[in-house]
Amino acid sequence: MTPLIAGNWKMNGLAAARVEVDRLVEARNGGHQAAARDDIDVLVCPPATLLAPFAAEFAEKGVLWGGQDCHGSASGAHTGDISAEMLADAGAGFVIVGHSERRADHGEGDNVVKAKAEAALRAGLTPIVCVGETKDQREAGDAERVVGGQLAGSMPAPETVGDREIVIAYEPVWAIGTGLTPTLDDIASMHSFIRGAVGPTRRILYGGSVKPTNAKDILRVDHVGGALVGGASLKADDFIEIIAAA
Ligand code: PGA
Repeated sequence: MTPLIAGNWKMNGLAAARVEVDRLVEARNGGHQAAARDDIDVLVCPPATLLAPFAAEFAEKGVLWGGQDCHGSASGAHTGDISAEMLADAGAGFVIVGHSERRADHGEGDNVVKAKAEAALRAGLTPIVCVGETKDQREAGDAERVVGGQLAGSMPAPETVGDREIVIAYEPVWAIGTGLTPTLDDIASMHSFIRGAVGPTRRILYGGSVKPTNAKDILRVDHVGGALVGGASLKADDFIEIIAAA
């Protein structure tokens, strides 16, 4: 399975962030031997305002492009929302759905996330479906039950999938942006649980405080097929080190 290293810029980045993309593209095209390998997929999900210009300027340069969220409908009266078709039109090949910040900030439940994942497939995008437990849920011994429930409720209906790719991202909520990570054993057991739920072919990413310092260990864990990287994807040098660790 080709590892996928995905950067989620969240609500960060103005036009000047182009210099970071320049560095990344240079690294991908030979500037950094380990990060230039073409048996690693590299994806950047910038804010929607930067997607079209970046995807146009840096098409076919060793970096894939994605959105951070989409609406379930293709078009319509939904002020401020963006559809999967619009992301595809802007050059995206992927879209993150069900990130815990969307689930918390916008009250998105599993049924909404599922509609978004199905919208992504409808538009020809690969959805990255995010799941993960809170600290309280982990401490209560509920992590697998919670993640299993999110998967059951958020994954697109099988008839909408066919032979299309879906990526799952396991992101413990308490590890996002905190510098905390589960133990490697806990990552291994959750990824093996998810593997059992989604079958043998899906890439399962780990996300939550992935840094150049821990990426190698995390990416070596069984059934970890890549990383979803927030903070450390904003600085090209850090992101390049994470790609090299893959
Ligand atoms: P982080 O974010 O790497 O900053 O913890 C990960 C994510 O939310 O995707």
